[in-house]
Amino acid sequence: MAEVVIVDTPEEAGAHVAGRIARLTRSKPEAVLGVATGSSPLPVYQQLRVMGTEGSLNLGKTTVFALDEYVGLPRDHRESYHSVISRELVEPLGLDPFRVHVPDGSLEGIEDAGERFESDIRAAGGIDLQILGIGSDGHIGFNEPGSSLASLTRIKTLTTRTRQDNARFFASPDEVPRHCITQGLGTILRARHLVLLAFGRGKAAAVAAALEGPVSAQCPASAMQLHPRTTVVLDEAAATELRNGAYYRYAWQNKPAWQEAE
Ligand code: GLP
Repeated sequence: MAEVVIVDTPEEAGAHVAGRIARLTRSKPEAVLGVATGSSPLPVYQQLRVMGTEGSLNLGKTTVFALDEYVGLPRDHRESYHSVISRELVEPLGLDPFRVHVPDGSLEGIEDAGERFESDIRAAGGIDLQILGIGSDGHIGFNEPGSSLASLTRIKTLTTRTRQDNARFFASPDEVPRHCITQGLGTILRARHLVLLAFGRGKAAAVAAALEGPVSAQCPASAMQLHPRTTVVLDEAAATELRNGAYYRYAWQNKPAWQEAE
């Protein structure tokens, strides 16, 4: 069963997850981090920046893989995931740009962009900790409902709902790209630790389906139930539809001390 942490605020969630990343990179400076875009991981990145400024975090040897990218959006477009990761993490934390990998969404070479990305992950030794958000339809990365549970990095078509959800980042809904390149569910399941963040009532149904529903391609995040090490960090609003919410709170409060260590 997933480790479920229910906190009061996204800031508290950010501090919790950033603390875990700091412990991981202290014990393994050359750790490989999987990072996600969207608004949910932003409090984590905010806290990492605070720790970087204070000097309590050094990601100088850390390698980073992004989950996904839009296809056909120029790399330097403000909303390309390459730009978002650079702005949020790479520049403020002084990461080595040669250790930062974002799937290549440019049209040139798109045919084998997925395979190249998979081979880069393998060459880095696999992902130690993968941060995830969840779409309102249960997608992770850009693996929309119906995605194969064994899928690897590949091109996908975005659903109308995801394009609508993401339209807030663009000047008009028509500007949201129609295609993306995303790590597959099989890629994500290979990471050694999955950490999903979700906040707000709008995520409650997707979170409940992911954690307590059947494992099904109809809710791609439910594939996480197949993973041996998953942490899900929620606020109360995102936890409202969980049948086992009371148990998750109880289990977290009564966690054995030895489980605190990474
Ligand atoms: C996009 C990203 C996902 C992200 C999702 C939810 O579709 N590709 O990785 O999880 O949005 O975004 P938010 O956290 O802003 O709700």
